[in-house]
Amino acid sequence: MSHRIALAVIGGTGVYKLANLEDVETRQVDTRFGKPSGPVRIGHLLGQRIAFMARHGEGHSVPPHQVNYRANLAALKEVGATRVLALNTVGGITERFGPRVLACPDQLIDYTWGRVSTIWDAASDGSGHGEVLHVDFGDPYTPLLRHKVIAAAHVTGVKLVESGCYGATQGPRLETKAEIARMRRDGCDLVGMTGMPEAGLARELGLDYACLAIVANWAAGCGTGEEITLAEVLSNVEAASAGLPELIGELARG
Ligand code: HPA
Repeated sequence: MSHRIALAVIGGTGVYKLANLEDVETRQVDTRFGKPSGPVRIGHLLGQRIAFMARHGEGHSVPPHQVNYRANLAALKEVGATRVLALNTVGGITERFGPRVLACPDQLIDYTWGRVSTIWDAASDGSGHGEVLHVDFGDPYTPLLRHKVIAAAHVTGVKLVESGCYGATQGPRLETKAEIARMRRDGCDLVGMTGMPEAGLARELGLDYACLAIVANWAAGCGTGEEITLAEVLSNVEAASAGLPELIGELARG
């Protein structure tokens, strides 16, 4: 078996390890951006070599605004990953995105603030960087990797909404109904707290990157309009994640 990493996966809220990952080897990676949220777990899934990182740490101790997104991505790159599938737990805003839906968004809007959102700062890289400073981000998720995610869902029979716009909010509190109404007017279908700066940093680092969003609840004021509880979030994520190992194994193959 080759030592190449076929795919890296970043797990979000409710996904702290990859079910079915075998022969797991643990790497503590220190990066030029500091420490990642936790170790990189490298193992085999359906014959493919996969690297896994829990975005919030394996004990879910790092809140969305304090995740060292740069270090997490740099650590995955350091172990040899070139493609990253980000699992993001989200709220659903528009009709097609109810609880337990899986979606592969094709666009995003960034509402976060005050986060370290580039690798190009003096502290991390004092060299002249010239034109690479402004990476193209018109399609924030790598189109070819998105197509492969969608194809893998077809092959494995996992139901997936094949587009959507992800709105990234600052958190850690959930949004007001007015904030969600504004996001709906802006064109957002999904809301989560971790989609940015991660996607932008992946582009700057030259990593292929796609998002698999797991809808945990209706966003504030949407759907049934009920209060959002952590228990609801976690049970919906667990239910919606049943087909993920197969989908991820198939994606890694392609
Ligand atoms: N808003 C923001 N982030 C989330 C939500 C939400 O409703 N649900 C899960 N992550």
